[in-house]
Amino acid sequence: MKVPFIDLGRQHQPMKKEILGAIEEVYDSNQFILGAKVKEFEEKIAAYVGTKYAKGVSNCTNALLISLRVLGVGKDDEVITTPFTFIATAEVIAILGAKPVFCDIDPRTYNMDSKKIAAAITERTKVILPVHLYGQVADMEEIMEIARSRDIKVIEDMAQAIGATHKGKQAGVFGDTACISFFPTKNLNALGDAGMILTSDPEIDKKTHAYRVHGASKKYYHDFIGYNDRLDAVQAAVLTVKLKYLDDWNAQRRDIANKYDDGLRDVVEIPYVKPENVSIYHQYTIRTDRRDALRQYLTDNGIGTSIHYPLPLHQQEAFTYLGYKLGDLPESERAAREVLSLPIHQILNNEEIDYVISTIRAFFKK
Ligand SMILES: Cc1ncc(COP(=O)(O)O)c(C=O)c1O
Repeated sequence: MKVPFIDLGRQHQPMKKEILGAIEEVYDSNQFILGAKVKEFEEKIAAYVGTKYAKGVSNCTNALLISLRVLGVGKDDEVITTPFTFIATAEVIAILGAKPVFCDIDPRTYNMDSKKIAAAITERTKVILPVHLYGQVADMEEIMEIARSRDIKVIEDMAQAIGATHKGKQAGVFGDTACISFFPTKNLNALGDAGMILTSDPEIDKKTHAYRVHGASKKYYHDFIGYNDRLDAVQAAVLTVKLKYLDDWNAQRRDIANKYDDGLRDVVEIPYVKPENVSIYHQYTIRTDRRDALRQYLTDNGIGTSIHYPLPLHQQEAFTYLGYKLGDLPESERAAREVLSLPIHQILNNEEIDYVISTIRAFFKK
């Protein structure tokens, strides 16, 4: 049996007509960038998450970049973030000439360890940028307390977490801004690149809009140097169709995760979700010190896997200039050697789930 790591075809097939219908509407409207479709989708996402505003941009990397600029981050400022994430999170800090300051992770959740943040704060710290990794919200209440008591801003990188909750509140309502990715592999996925910036602060929202349209608050009047960074109407129309199904999809992922948990908890370290969190399982990531051999065994048996992430950011060539050494962030380094993400797209059937479980158990001779 083959179980691919991801299978977008299976997700899209049943909704092909509906999606093509939405695309056709945009085609007929001749409004391709921003406009009514994007506004409708922005309003739906803001209502879904529970923020006052949402602005569609071209991807989450640029959503993070614009958020940093809106919050005034520039040369020589420091931004505290996790080294155990996709590079986009820290890349944007460096692009602005600011310094990423890496805070090690909690080895159980893989999110930034909120107990270690205070020690990383200096007088240059402008922003804390937590990531809700694998679909589980970081310790946002604690992080907000740390930040607010020191006049530091917070950006939530919720690229992987739309629909996840922390203490009953949705990812995206905690920070000064929150950034979503609709990359094709995300739980809510576009047919290309797409992203969004959320906030409940009207000033931040106004500036966010200006940054995405060349720094213009009024057409052809430019208040500052901005970007061309707008959401396409086609993506907004597709995402509006899919948003209706997001809660069901996330629930299906939780069902699959429960089945994996039951089948695997005695052979590998299964994902730990804090009692105050509801995860959307963007990834179902197990942990074992025999990771590489297990991965090869699964590949040989037709099961796709992925490693998120094989090298923490402080060990990346691109960040050698920051001067971190091996051993500086030991939990991130250990996680990078041991984690393995299993297939968890929401269309997996029981036979496939059982096959993944029995193959992993066979590897451990259980
Ligand atoms: C945690 C995290 N942040 C940022 C990004 C960047 O998102 P995008 O590909 O939409 O720019 C990703 C995408 O994979 C991500 O996983």
